[in-house]
Amino acid sequence: MTLHDYLDRQARRLSRSRARVCDFKVFDFNHLPAEPVMRAEAKPIVDACVRFLHTGIANHLFIFGGRGCGKTLMVRHIGNLLAADVIYANCRHHNSSFKLLAHWLGARPRGHSMDELWERFCRQHDGPTIIVLDEIDLISDKDRNREILYLISRAERPYMAILLSNNPRFMNTVDQSIRSTLQPELIHFVNYNADQVLGILKDRAEAGIAKHARPTTAELARLAALTVQHTQSDVRIAIKALYYLAVEGTMSDDALRDEGRVDTATAEGVFERARRDLVADVLRNLHDRDMLILAAAITVKDAFVKEIYRRYRQMSAGYGEEPFSYPYFLSSLYYLQSIGLIGLMSTKVGRTYTNRVQLLFDPDLAQGVWSARLG
Ligand SMILES: Nc1ncnc2c1ncn2[C@@H]1O[C@H](COP(=O)(O)OP(=O)(O)OP(=O)(O)O)[C@@H](O)[C@H]1O
Ligand SMILES: [Mg+2]
Repeated sequence: MTLHDYLDRQARRLSRSRARVCDFKVFDFNHLPAEPVMRAEAKPIVDACVRFLHTGIANHLFIFGGRGCGKTLMVRHIGNLLAADVIYANCRHHNSSFKLLAHWLGARPRGHSMDELWERFCRQHDGPTIIVLDEIDLISDKDRNREILYLISRAERPYMAILLSNNPRFMNTVDQSIRSTLQPELIHFVNYNADQVLGILKDRAEAGIAKHARPTTAELARLAALTVQHTQSDVRIAIKALYYLAVEGTMSDDALRDEGRVDTATAEGVFERARRDLVADVLRNLHDRDMLILAAAITVKDAFVKEIYRRYRQMSAGYGEEPFSYPYFLSSLYYLQSIGLIGLMSTKVGRTYTNRVQLLFDPDLAQGVWSARLG
């Protein structure tokens, strides 16, 4: 095939895939569907918000659950339904109390004191306000006291905080005095089952893929089953895989079948690609210290937690880093588990149970990321 033929073929493919996808927006992870698939955990969130808006008494929430289990979507959707002052920020992008306040006020983070920003914030929000802090565990270590939580918990105004995190143990890392003033209600978003993932995929396929090109229910159900079995139900992977199915077409695409095309996409193929894409994303976003712990887990494959800790300390010394203490190391392992990179398996050794770490991704994927980061 000449380069010219190849270019021609690719251009034809692209225009065909444009005809297959009728709305690319629904494949964007930040897209808010008008009617998300309902889940039981939405009810206590609505109850808490409604109670707060009626009484002015804060009912703070700490919502936790694995990656892609719909926390952000559900809270933003509920926020839009409430006729109330709801403000939102993701701590990944505004990773200190100071930056959060500056962001909400549209102020420059320099040249102001924290007290000044907080006072301005309180003046701007003088009625009942719901403050959503997404990915709260990503507030930088430099803001160890998470002053924003202190300020919200002691505010004279009616403020209610909704904190979202992958890490079920995040609240344990918060200062005792803040914890006891906030006393958040804990809401666990359990992983979706295959029927729920299928429901989400059906909605997206209907909204985003032209009728002639839509995958069959059996193909979507296969994708949903793979997502539940291999990813702790990360819906992002399912949506990305659906996107690949849509642009490449499957055997259920009438036009492709009539053409006799054999190189169509399969649920297994697109699922694997989507999974690799997303693992690469997660790895790129890891904190250096979590990355080092993961590197230690890879070098002593399939090992017990204590062995990995030993290896991690050696590696830290090699990089001139002060290692985490054992409890912090453990909480990092729980975090790595919550974002789907490792599984912690309890194994019986002699009379006691001890944890073994199992990697849930292809370690080659990590190689490139940390040679760039850690040298
Ligand atoms: N109930 C649902 N109905 C429709 N789409 C959903 C639903 N739950 C999740 N999704 C979709 O799945 C993707 C992941 O959801 P979301 O971003 O809310 O996950 P998350 O729990 O916040 O994940 P993370 O912990 O990584 O931030 C989003 O694109 C979202 O639109
Ligand atoms: Mg989220």
